[in-house]
Amino acid sequence: MQGTYRIAVLPGDGIGPEVTGQAIKVLKAVEEIQGPMFRFQTGLIGGAAIDETAVPLPAETISICHNAQAILLGAVGGPRWDHQRHDLRPEAGLLQLRQRQELYVNLRPAVVHDSLVYLSALKPDVVRGTDLVIVRELLGGIYFGNPRGIFAKNGERMGINTEVYREHEIERVAHRAFQLARLRRHKVTSVDKANVLESSRLWRDVVTRIGRMYGDVELQHLYVDSCAMQLIDRPTRFDVVLTNNMFGDILSDEAAMLTGSIGLLPSASLGERTALYEPIHGSAPDIAGRNRANPIAAIASAAMMLKYSFRLEMIADAIERAIAKVLKRGVRTADMAGKKRAVTTTRMGDLIAQETQKALKASAPKKSRKR
Ligand code: IPM
Ligand code: MG
Repeated sequence: MQGTYRIAVLPGDGIGPEVTGQAIKVLKAVEEIQGPMFRFQTGLIGGAAIDETAVPLPAETISICHNAQAILLGAVGGPRWDHQRHDLRPEAGLLQLRQRQELYVNLRPAVVHDSLVYLSALKPDVVRGTDLVIVRELLGGIYFGNPRGIFAKNGERMGINTEVYREHEIERVAHRAFQLARLRRHKVTSVDKANVLESSRLWRDVVTRIGRMYGDVELQHLYVDSCAMQLIDRPTRFDVVLTNNMFGDILSDEAAMLTGSIGLLPSASLGERTALYEPIHGSAPDIAGRNRANPIAAIASAAMMLKYSFRLEMIADAIERAIAKVLKRGVRTADMAGKKRAVTTTRMGDLIAQETQKALKASAPKKSRKR
């Protein structure tokens, strides 16, 4: 008998509630086959939390997350809250949550499905076979460094942010990248701007030192501008891309577009104790509430949660296979449909839930025979 897995669900803003709804639908479909296993508790974050409680990360949400083994998040942000002070914007809720839960490493895989190669803005021959993962440092760098702010000086305003990295922050994320590379193709590309920035020189130095502990993993350093270019020129050369908070934010959106739609890609933010799973995409306020969003990134994030937080690899595989199958059949939400007919968010969720159940049923007999 499996235990109960406690999941904090933070739908957030824009399309967040719609897409997390589909991820939960798929997890409930899993329970129909496997028996009860998940306990969901929903909390407010981002703009939705600001509207109700005036802050982007209310105390109640913090305690829900604290009691959960994993967090499933939709998206935060939207034009309605753009005028807020920076620490009271929806995005601050997510940044505070990352900090509080000490989620220092962010995994952002970008895999091009064979059946979607044609959707990419790049030539099929260039993107086919792309399978990389960005390992982004999530708690340091310019996102959190001090001093920061907008100050008055000599009769004009001056905006300041500071990039800061301490050695231990680089070490712990580097270890994660090399360990991940060992499960993949044994290649790490570390991305920095060491030709200009001291924080990057330290980054390169520390990553090189940690890399020596992983003699079986090939390490290469790239400047971020060159990396941005090579991601477009020859994305298949990358396996694990290790980089800082800011460069990882930018390069992960770029890598996402190789796959045809940013609506496909999940992410995992991991610490030592707990983890947060969320789509890479944002809250897409322009299509919110219209049942048009692609729920695949959210569903794939739930699959990552099963794999990394709960070690339910078999079920995670079933969900991933279900996604691949539905895509192969030509089912498309609006972001992927082009001139073809698009299905709704809920329809895509239904189809993936059904296929997941089929995949689980198909793998069940084998399991009992083994016993
Ligand atoms: C991301 C987002 C966030 C970030 C925002 C919403 C704070 O762009 O997760 O990539 O910049 O980290
Ligand atoms: Mg981003």
